[in-house]
Amino acid sequence: MASGVTVPAVRSRKVAAGAAPLVMVTAYDAPGARLVDDAGVDVILVGDSVAMVVLGHRDTLQVTVADLAHHTAAVARSSPRALVVADMPWLSYHRSPAETVGNAGVLVRAGAAAVKLEGGRRRLPMVEALVAAEVPVMGHLGLTPQSVHVMGGFKVQGRKADAATALVDDALALVDAGVFAIVVEGVPAELGARVTGAVPVPTIGIGAGPGCDGQVLVFHDLLGLDDRPSPRFVRRYASLKQEGTRAVAAFAADVRSGDFPSPEECYDNGGEG
Ligand code: KIV
Repeated sequence: MASGVTVPAVRSRKVAAGAAPLVMVTAYDAPGARLVDDAGVDVILVGDSVAMVVLGHRDTLQVTVADLAHHTAAVARSSPRALVVADMPWLSYHRSPAETVGNAGVLVRAGAAAVKLEGGRRRLPMVEALVAAEVPVMGHLGLTPQSVHVMGGFKVQGRKADAATALVDDALALVDAGVFAIVVEGVPAELGARVTGAVPVPTIGIGAGPGCDGQVLVFHDLLGLDDRPSPRFVRRYASLKQEGTRAVAAFAADVRSGDFPSPEECYDNGGEG
């Protein structure tokens, strides 16, 4: 394994203590992982968002441990410097601590250094079992996409005072159980900053404002690999869907006109290569 970003190094990244904000980006395959690693991200998340942005599902509930292991292994084969964290898919950590540890083991053996799971106090026995089994855990609070049906859609969470306080309490409980970082998704910016101030581990925000200890975006959103409307927290740094369509259309035109392949793009009977 390449030496690179470690769990303790991520755990220590509190901006209030003078650390630089953490940068996390999702990746699901080897070229994607090489791209984000070459860009210098700290953490690569093999997210269950793969269900939506790669596999075309409407939510993240459709992927399994085998699916996540397949994508984690592809990311890990690129030997990134960044820490590789794999998402535990829905129902892989809900039934028992023993099953949770077994499923996390599949992801670690596929190449993850840590796993991420969604939810607060209800998940504490699972988090504790994972930590006891030496599996580092990243928490995920707020808009937890695996709860889409309970939330009634992908909706901002923690807007009411009691919900905000419950979220802070969940964050503290996750810290007590041993998480090394917490993703905070889809909450008012003020709550993102409040959670960040309350916990000794870094928070990584997505739609949670600038007061977190880091930020995460989904690969396809950041690169504009899809041009469908995206949530307001997405900033597109490229328009690769447009650029890719233009490139493929140019290829198609060259094939149809006979311009491709050229003599330089053909083999002859002698020589090398
Ligand atoms: O699956 C995912 O991509 C995630 C991020 C949005 C944090 O969980």
